[in-house]
Amino acid sequence: MTYHRLAPFPAKILAKELLSKPGSSKQTYHLSLSIRDSGLQFRPGDSIGIYPENDPHLVERACALLRTSPQETVLDPRSKIEMSAQEFLSKKVNFSRISSSLLHTLEANISSHDPKSRLQHLLAQDNKELLLRFLQERDLLDLLREFPEYRLSIQELAQHTSPLLPRFYSIASSSLAHPEEVHITVALLSYSHHGEERYGVASHFLCHLADIEKTKVPLYIQPSSHFHLPEDPHANLIMVGPGTGIAPYRAFMQERIHKEATGKHWLFFGERNRAYDFLYESYWTSLVQSGKLRMDVAFSRDQKQKTYVQHKLYEHAKELFAWIAEGAYFYLCGDATHMAKDVEQTLLQLFQEQGNLSAEEAKSFLKNLKQTKRYLTDVY
Ligand SMILES: Cc1cc2nc3c(=O)[nH]c(=O)nc-3n(C[C@H](O)[C@H](O)[C@H](O)COP(=O)(O)OP(=O)(O)OC[C@H]3O[C@@H](n4cnc5c(N)ncnc54)[C@H](O)[C@@H]3O)c2cc1C
Ligand SMILES: NC(=O)c1ccc[n+]([C@@H]2O[C@H](COP(=O)([O-])OP(=O)(O)OC[C@H]3O[C@@H](n4cnc5c(N)ncnc54)[C@H](OP(=O)(O)O)[C@@H]3O)[C@@H](O)[C@H]2O)c1
Repeated sequence: MTYHRLAPFPAKILAKELLSKPGSSKQTYHLSLSIRDSGLQFRPGDSIGIYPENDPHLVERACALLRTSPQETVLDPRSKIEMSAQEFLSKKVNFSRISSSLLHTLEANISSHDPKSRLQHLLAQDNKELLLRFLQERDLLDLLREFPEYRLSIQELAQHTSPLLPRFYSIASSSLAHPEEVHITVALLSYSHHGEERYGVASHFLCHLADIEKTKVPLYIQPSSHFHLPEDPHANLIMVGPGTGIAPYRAFMQERIHKEATGKHWLFFGERNRAYDFLYESYWTSLVQSGKLRMDVAFSRDQKQKTYVQHKLYEHAKELFAWIAEGAYFYLCGDATHMAKDVEQTLLQLFQEQGNLSAEEAKSFLKNLKQTKRYLTDVY
């Protein structure tokens, strides 16, 4: 059997460990998953895609709001497979996204005057912004609670639900060091929704709901097209990865050590507090002590002024530029929204100052690094 996106491998969780220490303001977990007898192969830099399940409490609430029994049969409109309402709501529905087509369906279905005209107002051509805000502020459960007048079966509703999509996690282990396993590093996403604590679907599923040895996590390999180690074992690596951006570098280091690569390794890691959030601290420390790794850390919340990885890059500008000028590979992994852009800006400044380049020349220098595949990013 070949496992892939449409036929994921049911992986057993071998171990789960909270990497953040008690007192931390966040929760980041390490998970080891068994891919024994799956035939799955991967390289450092690849990710896995996993299919999560919704929280059973939310599924129970949804059944109640839909006035359906968990055992009722539903035909999944996408896979065309029949399953129970419970399975459909657990595995197939994205509760956090509601579509305007669902509002249209509710509007057509509801006959009571007030809720119907409210929906009509929202769906009017001129009220696009109002509609957008309405959809952003509510999830499926909120909507069903807000318009209890509807008389739709779960099957009718199923046509208008958003699909629960797979989530990706960078592989944090090398198959040379851990054959038959994939390791991942998962930050729990939590937020307040109308005063209630809510979690991200997949991070909650992996960090809280899935049980060691019991739960099977459906997964497949999502190969990276570019974020890989250089062939050359003598090449030097600069690895920048705040937060869960650190994950692929654990795989990189395991692989390079296993292959006895002679190149140098320089890691820049950032998190909130050193005392609580130094992910895989003992592993990195042992590598530093054995001379295999150089490491600089930026703990953003240990002092008044925020310190980020880019500040550490800038602090070591001269040496960093020399590494790059001598052929080092620069890797960047983690948050795409702010971090990756800020790191790139810092690098441009650093290139200008250290290389005596104009702003345009610094941009070309970076462009050239990208074109020659020595500036590699995996940001999300
Ligand atoms: C290539 C790649 C590699 C990745 N590697 C990793 C990794 O190694 N480790 C890792 O932890 N993650 C990684 N990610 C991110 C990961 O895939 C998930 O996106 C992340 O875990 C969140 O998924 P979730 O299902 O828990 O949250 P979701 O359920 O997807 O939650 C996100 C949703 O929650 C809602 N939401 C979030 N915040 C708020 C808020 N403040 N207020 C209201 N609503 C809110 C929004 O509706 C948002 O769409 C990677 C992503 C990619 C693309
Ligand atoms: N879209 C967003 O706004 C946003 C924000 C955070 C996380 N995320 C996502 O949440 C997931 C998990 O993130 P994570 O918990 O691994 O780590 P993270 O939230 O990215 O945080 C890791 C470290 O990076 C710091 N940081 C924040 N902004 C930065 C910036 N502009 N430049 C450099 N460093 C910065 C954080 O500091 P402080 O927190 O002290 O500022 C923290 O010390 C990822 O998917 C990430 O993309 C998204």
